[in-house]
This record gives sequence, C-alpha cells and structure tokens, in this order.
Amino acid sequence: MAQEDLFKKLVAHCKEYGYVFQSSEIYDGLSAVYDYGQYGVELKNNIKKYWWDSMILLHENVVGIDSAIFMHPTIWKASGHVDAFNDPLIDNKDSKKRYRADVLIEEQLAKIEEKINKEVDKARKRFGEAFDEAQFRATNARVLENQEKWEELHSRFSKALNDSNLEELRQIIVDQEIVCPISGTRNWTEVRQFNLMFSTDMGSTADGAMKIFLRPETAQGIFVNYLNVQKTGRMKIPFGIAQIGKAFRNEIVARQFIFRMREFEQMEMQFFVEPGTELEWFRHWKEIRMKWHQALGFGSENYRFHEHEKLAHYANAAVDVEYRFPFGFKEVEGIHSRTDFDLSQHEQYSGKKLRYFDPEKNESYVPYVVETSIGVDRMFLQVVAASYHEEEVVGANGEKDIRTVLRIPPALAPVKLAVLPLVKKDGQPEKARAIIDSLKFDFNCQYDEKDSIGKRYRRQDAIGTPFCITIDHQTETDNTVTIRYRDTMEQERIPVEKIREIVAERVSMKNLFRRLQ
Ligand code: GAP
Repeated sequence: MAQEDLFKKLVAHCKEYGYVFQSSEIYDGLSAVYDYGQYGVELKNNIKKYWWDSMILLHENVVGIDSAIFMHPTIWKASGHVDAFNDPLIDNKDSKKRYRADVLIEEQLAKIEEKINKEVDKARKRFGEAFDEAQFRATNARVLENQEKWEELHSRFSKALNDSNLEELRQIIVDQEIVCPISGTRNWTEVRQFNLMFSTDMGSTADGAMKIFLRPETAQGIFVNYLNVQKTGRMKIPFGIAQIGKAFRNEIVARQFIFRMREFEQMEMQFFVEPGTELEWFRHWKEIRMKWHQALGFGSENYRFHEHEKLAHYANAAVDVEYRFPFGFKEVEGIHSRTDFDLSQHEQYSGKKLRYFDPEKNESYVPYVVETSIGVDRMFLQVVAASYHEEEVVGANGEKDIRTVLRIPPALAPVKLAVLPLVKKDGQPEKARAIIDSLKFDFNCQYDEKDSIGKRYRRQDAIGTPFCITIDHQTETDNTVTIRYRDTMEQERIPVEKIREIVAERVSMKNLFRRLQ
C-alpha cells in the first residue's frame, strides 16, 4: 500500500475507533487542534506512564514537578522566546496560503532524496542478491547528479538558516522553482519572521491587565523551579527534573494530523550537570532515549539520529530522534545540551542567584543543562503508525478476509482484555461479568456480547486489545475459558484462575523497563 494511502487510513481509523477526533468538529473543526477519544486517552496515559516511570523510577536522581501553564511574562523575555521564537513564513499571492519557507525547502530536499532512493530501489530489483548499494551510489550517473544537487541546495539552505538570511531563503525558493501546491504558481511574497507564541490577558483592564503567554515549551517551568527543587529535595548535581504538560504554538504549517499541532503535550526532562561534563551527559542521555524508543519493538531500522545543522544560540550540541513515519523520517524527540543559557538568563532577568553550591569543591556555579524533550502526541502517532496493520486472513467459512489490527505493545494498549460470552444466555453473560469484576482492579477490561464472536474479535483487533477471553458452554462444566492472542490469533483453553497471571505477565510495563537497564 502506498504510504500516503496508509496514512489516510490511519487517520480514518483513529476517528472510527475512538482514538482521535478533530476538535470542535460539529463547528467544522479548529485547525491543528485535536481531542483524544475513549481509547486515545488510555493510550496517551500509558505512553505518559511509560515515560514518567522510566525517568522517575529508574533514575534515583530524577524527580518530577508540575508547573503552571501561566508564568510571569518576563520568563519568556529571558528565555529568548519573545524575540526569537519565530518561523520564517512566506505567502503565495494567488492562493493566499501561508507556508514556512524552511519547510518548502526541506520538502524540495526530500524530493531529491526520493529520486535517488527510487534509482537505488530500481537497481536493487534489477540486480537482486548481487546488488552492491554502496558501489551503485558511488558510480551511477543519475544518482551522482542528484546527490550533487542535494548537497549544493543543502549547504546553501544551511547557510541561509545560520545567517537568518530571509532574502536568501526566498531566493532559494525562487531558484528551485518551488510552486504553491494549491495554486501551482510561483507568485511568492517576501519571507517574514512570525512569532509562534499565543498570548492572553490576565486580570481585568481596570486593574491593569498583564499580557501573558501560553507556554510554548514546558522546560521554562523547570528552570524557574530548579532551585526550589534542589533545596527542598536536597538534590546533588547531577540531577534531573521531569515534567509532562501542555504546550502551545501558533504553528503556520499545521499538517499531518497530530504530528504538528497548535495545542500539544510535552514530556521534558532537564538534567543539571557540572560545567564541562555536559557533552558526556548529552551522549549518555542520547543513548538512554534511543533505547526507550527501541524497547517498544517497532524495529531499530525505523529510528535514526539527526544531528542539527543549525544549533540554537544557547546549545552546544543537539540531536533529534527520528522515526520513519508513513510520510518519511521525522523528529519525535530532541536532545539538547543547553549550556547554562537558561539559568544565567533567569539570574539576570530576575536578579536572583540560581547557583548550585558544590560542598565537595566548596564552590558555586550555574549548572549546565542537558534536556530531553519529546511530544506525547508525536509519540502517540509513532505508536499508532507502527502498530497499524492490514492482514489477509482466512475466515471461519474458508474465505479470504482482511483484518485490521493495531499491534500496540500490550503494556501500552488501551484495553488489555475483552471478556466475551459466546451466547447471551445460559449464565454466560453473568460468568463474563464475574470474571471482569475479579480483574477490573488489575486491568482495563471490556465486556462485549453484541454480534458474532468473529466480529467481536475483529472489533477488539481494531482497538488493539491484546487478549480476548471467551466464555462458552464448557466454561460452566470445568471453569475454563479460551484466551485468544491478538497478534497470532491463536486460541488456548485455560482455567479461569490462570487469566490474571497470563495477562499480568504480558501487559506489565516491567517488561519494557527491563529492556532499558
Ligand atoms: N524544550 C525544547 C523544545 O521544546 P522542540 O524541538 O521545539 O524543543 C520538542 O520540541 C518536542 O516537542 C518535539 O520533538 C516534538 O515531539 C514536540 N513538538 C514540538 N512542536 C510540536 C507541535 N507543534 N505539535 C506536536 N508536537 C510538537
């Protein structure tokens, strides 16, 4: 299936099965804002738990906080967001559509990369086992020509970004003959900077309302509380503070479903270290975070690191963890060595000392910070995209059928167990309810008695429920049930008393955490 079609199906599936809804849908929706449905919220909570526990339980020197969304406006001046949290935007005069100039150029680079990959794929098919990809890439004329084009464009683009040269960004768009996807024309405006922060007023006008910002990242809530936590928790450097919370950005190009939203959620951890040790800790966290992603079992080939071409002015190292989405490799998480920029700025703007006193060295310093920052919603999209499968299966009547299954890792699955009476009589519904009553404090269970058993299995596959328990006539005589495994569709007869043990063993997050050690 073409990746584009797959993505469309995924979006439709998320809606049809109660994972994600367009916000304010009955009012025609609000662009780039989404609501999570009854299964979506469970998956989201499980993702957050996986992240939170991996930070807080597995690291004795990482603690959590929950800071307010509203913060003093000077925080955003100090952090640089008021002056520099901008995207370069360009409008097409014919369609009146607005684009990010850097995204248009990145898409152009991706197109060239795609051309190269197509040549390689064609040759692989032609030569079969004997194909030497490295040699082909080094010698094929068309590949070399496109590679040269890519490198030329890439270096020109990087330079323009580094120099914040808006005229040059526009010139690249013109020279590359990039057209507006809506109007098909090259009738572009100048490139301008556009601040991404939302603002609102706090207090009534009579009192003198204050313009405050909706936080565009959760990190600043950690920075301004760093000393509170260090002192009250008697934390010794190195230590980390983790937080999960909403963030808001007035994104210009808000596309690809929940990949880029205007209201989203972040899971961020700031790790405070001694100056001079930050790059070592940066490498350490880079490794830990990649392990966290790969522990989910979606295939290590689907992840890569992407080193930043342009470092933010406060960073001395930065890398993204990218996942292969149906629309290509894209950032899921950023790991940044932020130096002492944020704490020093807050010292300067607040006039309060934010130093750490090292009792062993008998000296105080402003700590350096290594940050890990991942979007909950992007992680959600990664899980759903990796889990969505359409498989050809043979039905009970021997006919071929397609089953849609979400192979969500059991520890993250919204519903762990469905209990299904084969028929709605003979005491089977009561038995099913009794089983749920005995398990509902351990797992999220679901009862379903409507439609044929085959249809009910399919419904649970589509939701991603890893286990279905079926009550049948035999249950009454020997207190056994069948357990059906989502991924293999195998069924096994087990005593009712075994259900808890079998399910608990497989849905436990401990299985994931063990892989992180
Ligand atoms: N504190 C650092 C920071 O905010 P970032 O690279 O701008 O860094 C970190 O964002 C992560 O937050 C991204 O890797 C992504 O997963 C998520 N994120 C950022 N903007 C987003 C948006 N508009 N919609 C959804 N997720 C977003």
